Amino acid sequence: MLPTLRAAVNSLKGPLGLRSLQTTASRAHDSLFVHRDTPEDNPDIPFEFSADNKKRVEAILAIYPEGHKRAAMIPLLDLAQRQYGWLPISAMHHVADILKLPKMRVYEVATFYTMFMRKPTGKYHLQVCTTTPCWLRGSNEILDTIKKNLGLEVGETSSDKLFTISEVECLGACVNAPMVQINDDYYAALVLDCLQEDLTVQDTEEILADLKAGRKPKPGPRSGRYAAEPIGEPTSLKGEPPAAGFGVRADL
Ligand code: FES
Repeated sequence: MLPTLRAAVNSLKGPLGLRSLQTTASRAHDSLFVHRDTPEDNPDIPFEFSADNKKRVEAILAIYPEGHKRAAMIPLLDLAQRQYGWLPISAMHHVADILKLPKMRVYEVATFYTMFMRKPTGKYHLQVCTTTPCWLRGSNEILDTIKKNLGLEVGETSSDKLFTISEVECLGACVNAPMVQINDDYYAALVLDCLQEDLTVQDTEEILADLKAGRKPKPGPRSGRYAAEPIGEPTSLKGEPPAAGFGVRADL
């Protein structure tokens, strides 16, 4: 609502004894929520699955029973994105045709999930989680390091088409926060065991240097953990499990 209109509505509400109208401040986002035709993304650009991917489409559709084929939408959009590098509108239309759905049903999904990139994306898509657990563990520092190292802002792609930076919500790896997803891999715990040595920047820059040199950095936690187990020795559930009836009242 325009500020002047909101002020007018609020001025009327006071005399009527109604509460003032409150709205949440809008925040900019690096994802585009509306489609604008551009030379590289418009419905006139043809999209077809490759011969191999056509077989994959058939295999994916075969998983879902008749009447529920629309459940294949996310796998098909993902397949289209993997083939094209990002998800143009003509690929969305093609998926809508395959699933015999209105185009709007596909737009709704493609604009909801940050995994779908609806504009040309670099070879390495750096998705930095800045939700609360990651933020508490230093995700701002990680994001700043990446932006400074690459000379890019969130939502931008480098001129050599190597890197795109996105800021995303929780990617489900909070136990190893802070974390960054690069293409299909998670890089996590970038500061967890390094706080005293201030290796936050170093960890992140090592990953970027590897990518720039065409090397694949080892994915996973950089804290020495294998996955999401406790750091160091286990602190609970160390003994044999108690027998059945443990802790139950004697009179029961
Ligand atoms: S908050 Fe970052 S992965 Fe959950």
